Amino acid sequence: MKHLIDPTDLTKEELDSILDLALDIIADRKKYSEVCKGLKLATLFYEPSTRTRLSFTSAMMELGGNVLGFSDAKSSSVSKGETCADTTKVISCFADVIAMRHYEEGAALVAAMNARVPVINAGDGSHAHPTQTLTDLLTIRREIGHIDGITIGFCGDLRFGRTVHSLIKALARYKDVKVILIAPDQLKLPDYMKYEVCELNGIPYKEVKSMEEVMGELDVLYMTRVQKERFLDEDEYDRLKDSFILDAEKMKLARKEMTVLHPLPRVNEITVEVDDDPRAAYFRQVENGKFVRMALISRLLEWADDPEHNSSLVPEDAVRNRHVCSNRRCISNMENVDTLFRPSADTPGQWRCVYCESKPKL
Ligand code: CP
Repeated sequence: MKHLIDPTDLTKEELDSILDLALDIIADRKKYSEVCKGLKLATLFYEPSTRTRLSFTSAMMELGGNVLGFSDAKSSSVSKGETCADTTKVISCFADVIAMRHYEEGAALVAAMNARVPVINAGDGSHAHPTQTLTDLLTIRREIGHIDGITIGFCGDLRFGRTVHSLIKALARYKDVKVILIAPDQLKLPDYMKYEVCELNGIPYKEVKSMEEVMGELDVLYMTRVQKERFLDEDEYDRLKDSFILDAEKMKLARKEMTVLHPLPRVNEITVEVDDDPRAAYFRQVENGKFVRMALISRLLEWADDPEHNSSLVPEDAVRNRHVCSNRRCISNMENVDTLFRPSADTPGQWRCVYCESKPKL
């Protein structure tokens, strides 16, 4: 069975087959209107969402299927202490595919380990958001015409921004992509992303502190919100929240073909005057999210019984219950699951948590 927990779960061929299908759906939506007739999607959202949950709902409805689930875990038996593992076992009795958003990092992986149906990670803490990545890739293809060879600038909260982590991992599948990281010191991309994802995959990257100095180099500017909900110190959030603001003046420095993406919601980081600039693609990006989720649901259901499309959830070289994760938001510190660590690719002798990619507690 194929799950989508992390963008690296998809081979380049699988990734392209989903994007190609999304483009075909856009060209002829009627052709797909009964693909999921009689099938059900469960949306289990433990954390707030507008785009992801409703685009999954809309996608399944457009495919002729039905949707059940919750948008507030307090209204479910989670409030009585039911674990993510048990909830998933239960929902597997009711639905053909599950989309889960959770504030605990690694929750979607635990769900996939316990499900009898495909699980889609709709965002797990600050770790990963692979369906936003599919949305971003489809938008780049539609706006620019290709993904190979682009120079992309990621701006804002690169530390907690799960959409950034997931998109960089997926871009490692493409040729000649260059990455520019625009962030204050406190919100820099985590080291494991720089070494394991960029350096080991040969993605050239540079880190800068201002948008102005790199604006003219970019094919894509990927703006992000500073993730208030991930900060443990509110004063630090207040100091950093307006680190970067894209406005009409800064857009004058950009190429006329540059595309501005943002996973949304936005707060202050893009002024509303930019919305009227034809290079602002973030609301077109939202619509692409529905089409790509239609394609993803279709493919995962098609691949569910095909041994050629299988997810290996735990790496073969992982060790069980030998370390404790240093990340207090990791599901292995919240629920009674085996701790799982794999060897780190960047530092010999170092380990990374399989659920959230953090180091072990010393
Ligand atoms: N982009 C995104 O994940 O938006 P929501 O949080 O509204 O789902």
